[in-house]
Amino acid sequence: MDNRPIGFLDSGVGGLTVVRECLRQLPHERVVFVGDQARAPYGPRTAEQIREYTWQMVNFLLTKDVKMIVLACNTATSVVWEEVKAALPIPVLGVILPGASAAIKSTQTGHVGVIGTQMTVCSDIYRQKIQSLSPETEVVSLACPKFVPLVESNEMTSSLAKKVVYETLKPLKGKVDTLVLGCTHYPLLRPIIQHAMGPEVKLIDSGAETARDISVLLNYFEINHDRNQSSGEHQFYTTASPEAFKIIAEDWLDRQIQVEQIRL
Ligand code: DGL
Repeated sequence: MDNRPIGFLDSGVGGLTVVRECLRQLPHERVVFVGDQARAPYGPRTAEQIREYTWQMVNFLLTKDVKMIVLACNTATSVVWEEVKAALPIPVLGVILPGASAAIKSTQTGHVGVIGTQMTVCSDIYRQKIQSLSPETEVVSLACPKFVPLVESNEMTSSLAKKVVYETLKPLKGKVDTLVLGCTHYPLLRPIIQHAMGPEVKLIDSGAETARDISVLLNYFEINHDRNQSSGEHQFYTTASPEAFKIIAEDWLDRQIQVEQIRL
């Protein structure tokens, strides 16, 4: 047993898609979340900036005495996961491997699409991971730089969001039977993405897949929270406006939360 919290980080509200699944699948665990909204989006930034900012969030989470860290951000995972994992004495999870494995299980035609930020798509990491497990699977990747700003500005259902998503996904339509949402912000646009791709396309939410891996690791290291003790308050931190964060987070997590603004 280990009653310390699990730490999650992201450039913004996207990481909450992983937190939501974690709270659903592991209701006894306590969460500490940090979102670097003041510097989002990370997708167009250099690898060096993403590395520096991610380490700042990791170090912040370590001050909260976390028992595990989840890089709830594909962009950060693609740049710095191996390095953080090697450096810390606690388990560190990324969101890419779980999504890649789920895509292989899902595809019937062997044609998988991956959408993500510019950095995630340029890193080519999804194609490499998918093809290392299943060399015959074809992977088409597409950067969707307009999606994260839509989510961060709480425009998930607006007509602008619909237009942008339809236009952006056109090149993938009819070409894949499985689409990996390779950015943790994208599940917040899921209904529009599903509509744009058609009901026959299976969407893979890397966050949901990661929550399953969190559970496996908690069991493996025997660090589950004691079910007989209350998990206590979850903690949420942002580098930008706590009010704006709270609106999206409370809606998405379907609970009231306390949010504090921090400087990294
Ligand atoms: N949510 C992040 C990801 O999964 C980062 C998006 C961004 O800041 O560009 O890639």
